[in-house]
Amino acid sequence: MIQASHEAVMVNEVLENLVFEQNGKYVDCTFGAGGHSLEILKKINESGTLISIDKDKKATINLSKDFTDDGRFRLVNDSFSNLRSLFEDKEVDGILIDLGISSTQLDDPKRGFSFQSNGPLDMRIDTTKGQTASDWINTATKKEIEDVLWVLGQERASRKIASKICEIREKKPIESTKELSDLIRSCVYTRSKKHPATNSFRAIRMLINNEIEELQKVLEASSHVLCCGGRLAVISFHSMEDRIVKRFFQGKDRNESNVKFQYIKDKFLKPTPKEITINPRSRSAILRVAEKLC
Ligand SMILES: C[S@@+](CC[C@H](N)C(=O)[O-])C[C@H]1O[C@@H](n2cnc3c(N)ncnc32)[C@H](O)[C@@H]1O
Repeated sequence: MIQASHEAVMVNEVLENLVFEQNGKYVDCTFGAGGHSLEILKKINESGTLISIDKDKKATINLSKDFTDDGRFRLVNDSFSNLRSLFEDKEVDGILIDLGISSTQLDDPKRGFSFQSNGPLDMRIDTTKGQTASDWINTATKKEIEDVLWVLGQERASRKIASKICEIREKKPIESTKELSDLIRSCVYTRSKKHPATNSFRAIRMLINNEIEELQKVLEASSHVLCCGGRLAVISFHSMEDRIVKRFFQGKDRNESNVKFQYIKDKFLKPTPKEITINPRSRSAILRVAEKLC
């Protein structure tokens, strides 16, 4: 199968709102296929720097010459929740967080993220540690499965799917994306064009990769490492993530930081109809950019 490369989302909006100092220090917390990073490098000058992070080792090998030959660029293979260990407080001018996974990861059947092709039920972004989706599906209680599908996936058939999973795994462990997606399809009645396994797969991926906790931690860390007037841009694809970002910028639900943020212009931005036509995966994106007040 040919793997599609990732098309960076809302690039113009990110550059326009995030990169305000050409000689600034920028961090791309989600390097992926490097689309945003490359554009940031084009916009900053010879004194500017970019440090990009990705916890997927596969995303950080085979870097193109655009990156390896550029002395202003450094790549770190780590979780973005560890941001604070990489920088001094008030050191960074701008931070980008483009949540979720890239098309390159989604379209690779071996990674187990997609219900569109068959592969091992893995779903880990960092494949070197943690439990796979298969480990979890075959050991979690019925109630745990139901709660994850309901809370993270807003899946109305969560109870039915959880019961079916428990029934099937009694006979044989569920190990492939096809087994899981067929099982979900048998439980979900839908008239929409959306694949019946969309919500459940996303929910399980979010759980396996601790995505909500990672987001909360990176927002908190960003508020420390950003300089006064520094900007934080977050692209999310899920209403729950966007709500966390929105409440963080409003100063709500913080564990530790009391830093205040102010939106640059609009409270949020959405992709243009033209971008959605060219890259349909951008349709649910929502970008929020705010600056740190000191
Ligand atoms: C939507 S993609 C980013 C695409 C990128 N902006 C581009 O233009 O190609 C998200 C990336 O973030 C990475 N990622 C997700 N969660 C992460 C985390 N907690 N720490 C570090 N990287 C993470 C994924 O491996 C993936 O490559």
